[in-house]
Amino acid sequence: EVGMNAQDLGKILHREPAEIVKKLFMLGVMTNQNQSLDKDAIELVAAEYGINAEEKVHEDMSDIDNLYNKRMEASKESKHQIKRPPVVTIMGHVDHGKTTLLDRLRHTHVTDHEAGGITQKIGAYQVRIDNHLITFLDTPGHAAFSNMRERGAEITDIVVLVVAADDGVMPQTIEAIDHAKSAKVPIIVAINKMDAPGANPQHVTEQLMKYNLIPEDYGGDTIFVNISAKTGENVDELLQMILLQADVMELKADPKQKAIGTVIEARLSRGRGPVADLLVQQGTLHTGDPIVVGNRFGRVRVMTNDRGRQVEKATPSMPVEITGLNDVPESADKIVVFDDEKTARSVGEQRAQQALQQSRENVTHVTLDNLFDTM
Ligand code: GTP
Ligand code: MG
Repeated sequence: EVGMNAQDLGKILHREPAEIVKKLFMLGVMTNQNQSLDKDAIELVAAEYGINAEEKVHEDMSDIDNLYNKRMEASKESKHQIKRPPVVTIMGHVDHGKTTLLDRLRHTHVTDHEAGGITQKIGAYQVRIDNHLITFLDTPGHAAFSNMRERGAEITDIVVLVVAADDGVMPQTIEAIDHAKSAKVPIIVAINKMDAPGANPQHVTEQLMKYNLIPEDYGGDTIFVNISAKTGENVDELLQMILLQADVMELKADPKQKAIGTVIEARLSRGRGPVADLLVQQGTLHTGDPIVVGNRFGRVRVMTNDRGRQVEKATPSMPVEITGLNDVPESADKIVVFDDEKTARSVGEQRAQQALQQSRENVTHVTLDNLFDTM
């Protein structure tokens, strides 16, 4: 349960937390700024300021980012934490082989023979190696990565930087390094196209060292793997190295709490209505769960995994496709599971309304700006 403390209450009531604590003290409630308050205490304080607490507490629930962050923090303290699969994004210069690598991974490690080998695109998929899972985001490239980050979503744990052995470091290689570094995401270097004539991995390594990506052989701590996405050479080795890096990072999640996650992509399907591909980050998402997704709400109706198979639950780092939302959310939107559908609905509706109002205000501003520009 997400508790509200004097600090949160201060924010809602636009008062200093110290003032709230003092007020509580006068009302006979001993607390500090961080201690969770019970409902009675919250109502008492709110009433002191002439505010209907029900309404205001509700307003706090509509702060999805805050709920999401709190659950993310809470999971770090949880004693139910277990290891979770790493989430990997592949980046690199145009034509260096990102899509070929993603396709190879998908086909050699993902194709489910029982399901007739049909894999559907859900924006991410999981690869199994030696009974360990790795989640790959299926949209390679920098735009996807930075769009997510700009919207406050940081779902990537590891970046695999693909550099063609016959081409070397190019502008978008450097851009990818910059992106990963500013997001503080570790980079694994995959020197690709080792089968190509003119492949010169030594040269590429030397180039990359100028950007502070130093292999262990040279006293650094960046993992380098020479691969061929085309022939499959060393691709398993790359997966092993991703697992190794993930181990070092001690990626964990608490599968027992109420789920939070992030939308990877969403669309409107003719037959099924709004469909969202999402990544579960903490907790376990169940069919039937009431959810708020960005400014949308609903209940998880049908949940499908990366092999197009229906599932009842999704654990941390698992990508799934869901239906059951009232409208199409946006990529990078946060997903928060609620206790009941009624609250989810009113929060969702409130958020949609706020967003609408915001966009109206923005339009007015733009119009005014334009007006001044032409004067
Ligand atoms: P963009 O999406 O345009 O940025 O390119 P990309 O990085 O996804 O590259 P893509 O996978 O489309 O590969 C570009 C070309 O390189 C294709 O013709 C691939 O067949 C070829 N290619 C990819 N990997 C290898 C490899 O390991 N060896 C060789 N010889 N060719 C490769
Ligand atoms: Mg591509």
